[in-house]
Amino acid sequence: MDFLNCMSTISHKSSLVFKCCLLLLVLLAFRTLMLSPIPKNFPWIASYHLSNPSHNPIRINKFLEVPQIIWGLNNQKIAFARACLTARLLNRTLLLPSLTANLVYKEINLSEPIPFNKVFNFEKFNSLCTGFVQLGHYSSLSNRTSPLELQKGSGRKWTKERDLSQLQQFKEGSCDKFEVIRITGKNPFLWHDHWPVKDYAKVFRCLALVDEIEEEASKVISKIQGGENVPYIAVHMRIEIDWMIHCKKVEQRLHTSQICSSKEEITNRVAKIASGLPRPIPVYLAIADSLLKDGSILSGWEEGLIPFEKKKLGVWDVYQKHPYITQAAIDFEVCLRADVFVGNSYSTFSSLVVLQRTENWIEMGSGASCGGNLSFASYAYNILGEDGGAQRWMTDMSALSLESISYGTNNISCEVGGMS
Ligand SMILES: *[C@@H]1O[C@H](CO)[C@@H](O)[C@H](O)[C@H]1NC(C)=O
Ligand SMILES: *[C@@H]1O[C@H](CO)[C@@H](O)[C@H](O)[C@H]1NC(C)=O
Ligand SMILES: *[C@@H]1O[C@H](CO)[C@@H](O)[C@H](O)[C@H]1NC(C)=O
Ligand SMILES: *[C@@H]1O[C@H](CO)[C@@H](O)[C@H](O)[C@H]1NC(C)=O
Ligand SMILES: *[C@@H]1O[C@H](CO)[C@@H](O)[C@H](O)[C@H]1NC(C)=O
Repeated sequence: MDFLNCMSTISHKSSLVFKCCLLLLVLLAFRTLMLSPIPKNFPWIASYHLSNPSHNPIRINKFLEVPQIIWGLNNQKIAFARACLTARLLNRTLLLPSLTANLVYKEINLSEPIPFNKVFNFEKFNSLCTGFVQLGHYSSLSNRTSPLELQKGSGRKWTKERDLSQLQQFKEGSCDKFEVIRITGKNPFLWHDHWPVKDYAKVFRCLALVDEIEEEASKVISKIQGGENVPYIAVHMRIEIDWMIHCKKVEQRLHTSQICSSKEEITNRVAKIASGLPRPIPVYLAIADSLLKDGSILSGWEEGLIPFEKKKLGVWDVYQKHPYITQAAIDFEVCLRADVFVGNSYSTFSSLVVLQRTENWIEMGSGASCGGNLSFASYAYNILGEDGGAQRWMTDMSALSLESISYGTNNISCEVGGMS
């Protein structure tokens, strides 16, 4: 019997008794379904007819549920995209996941969940991603069957191939009949990656902030520009003590000296970039809160570069009203929309900013390499460019996995790669 196959090959947890009970229940449910005419008000059938399936090839009556998504904003975005792409592989709608509002690393039980749609616009996401991936609400469930658990494997022996073949098994007949597949175990950020960068890019493109956060970001940008529509530079400066300790360790492990940049190195390299831009020009410093305490971050910039951080802009109060994830989302938006962005190629935050800027760049028809056009240019200050300044930086959209973006790289280039 298919169903028993599904459970016995895949489930690691459920006891035989439980399986048999479930089997009986499902058989009963099937019998009832087969014998009785389908009632008109079956929730999924009703909604299925409402939206045109030819425009929406992802099934909206089968769902995937994933564990709470944790860590920094950009780890959360990557984890979310990975959950979406897993749902796509299973041809299922992803049930609205929980993100995490605050930044707690180890004690997951302290991480305050925040629904996806408190940060990102649910309707916009579904409309932009129609036909590719879809999100659904728990209220759309008919609850006719209890969820089928998919326990993610872990450890060295749990290879990428095994992971993929487990997913494929859950796509097959008997498992596929379940309304909900619930993945348990690790945070989706730690799942094996089976998708090329361009698939992630498609998901990120559908992520629009909710209006309230979007307005806050626009207010900050307007303050940076002094109320006029002038160009500005955004620098994602990682020089706080925690980062310096972390990046020195990574430098040792990878035998490189291209990860940690001092404040002097950053200011010099930004000055070099700015030599081709009109002056004076505002420079927004996206920095950790710990650097706001002393004002020294604002000194040492070349004349004509006007540095701002949250305090000097007078928006510190605005930020402090919000939880961590919202604050990070505002900073991300400010960096995304900057005329020039300068970041660290070993930061997930910087890497995702550059990925989305590269997409915008392609969309504007600016070509597949950097060229001489500075609008929407991005740079990595931790890597020395040919002109003695920071290296120009674009995301290789043809990369086969997101690894270099998730964990950082010093192999950045000015080529977009195979576009599609
Ligand atoms: C999902 O299933 C529908 C209906 O069976 C099919 O038309 C569509 O191509 C499938 N989509 C994917 C991404 O597998
Ligand atoms: C979180 O979990 C850890 C261990 O699992 C426990 O020691 C700690 O007390 C928990 N904290 C709270 C607030 O529940
Ligand atoms: C199914 O269960 C979920 C919670 O698990 C609930 O939100 C939803 O309303 C239920 N659906 C129906 C049709 O009862
Ligand atoms: C740079 O690209 C932007 C957007 O495509 C365009 O508006 C602008 O005119 C370009 N500037 C130069 C100097 O080519
Ligand atoms: C650097 O990246 C390019 C593509 O972006 C790739 O072809 C090349 O193999 C990479 N080099 C190293 C040393 O990883």
